[in-house]
Amino acid sequence: MGTQSENRLLDGKAVAAEIRRDITDQVDAMVAGGARRPKLVAVLVGDNAASAAYVRNKTRTCEKAGVLGETLRLPSDVDQATLEDEIRRLNDDDSVDGILVQLPLPRSIDERPILELVRPDKDVDGFHPENVGRLWIGEPALAPATPTGVVEMLRRCDIPLSGQHAVVVGRSNIVGKPMASLLLRENCTVTVCHSRTRDLAATCRDADILVVAIGRAAMVGPDHVREGAVVIDVGMNRIDDAAQLEHLHPGDRKRRRGFDKRGYALVGDVDFHRVAPKASAITPVPGGVGPLTVVSVLSNTVAASKRRQGVTP
Ligand code: GUN
Repeated sequence: MGTQSENRLLDGKAVAAEIRRDITDQVDAMVAGGARRPKLVAVLVGDNAASAAYVRNKTRTCEKAGVLGETLRLPSDVDQATLEDEIRRLNDDDSVDGILVQLPLPRSIDERPILELVRPDKDVDGFHPENVGRLWIGEPALAPATPTGVVEMLRRCDIPLSGQHAVVVGRSNIVGKPMASLLLRENCTVTVCHSRTRDLAATCRDADILVVAIGRAAMVGPDHVREGAVVIDVGMNRIDDAAQLEHLHPGDRKRRRGFDKRGYALVGDVDFHRVAPKASAITPVPGGVGPLTVVSVLSNTVAASKRRQGVTP
């Protein structure tokens, strides 16, 4: 029984397309039943190109599913009070079901009060402390998109979770912590690692399911992975060194063409080329977790809209 032949690429793009079709059906049904079309408003402050691309992706995905997707653009020098007023306006606007404040915000803005101002029932990012708390105590909650997407993908790909040892690398509020909570809810035994973890490789090697969200290109290599583990790569790192790209993806001409065109390539936190042969299943970057994150924002928006309009799930 060669592990190599059992190796499975977890195609996030395909799974996300399947979820989007399901959600489109739900939206069609709710609108046919007389409900208002769900609406997401993404708040984009400043002109960070990556943030703008993420927001475009989220609103476009909503529109493909029949959900209204708008972007509120504000200049990078917007002051705290003006941004707070805009959030209050969206909170009070009954036609808005989901509010998403794209991060990072400019340094002049204090992020916490902004995230805490978003009405919890419209908080499709799941960043409000009420949703964070609800998630941890197992109450219905809007949960952060990336970890929600990861669990949904594992479920749809029939990867067993109950009783498995899940190791999460990274303890951010956006991914690592909610990921731990959701995996715990699925009855995994969960370990969370971070920059101070004593022997990261040894802890990772104990994982049945390894979720990596640290934001450093190819930091997790074959020494971190047990033969047969499931590896989920949440990383999305831009590299601009051609030699590094060739080292990480030797002979990958398609990637190289993209690099030559844009001047950078996207790689994950996992050294895919060297880890994939050991893993029983692994997500690529791009085309793994990213599309799931986007579709989870859509799914949260529709869930929020149904709850607000009294449509049964
Ligand atoms: N920036 C990076 N990830 C996220 C996310 O999931 N939501 C928002 N709003 N901003 C982000």
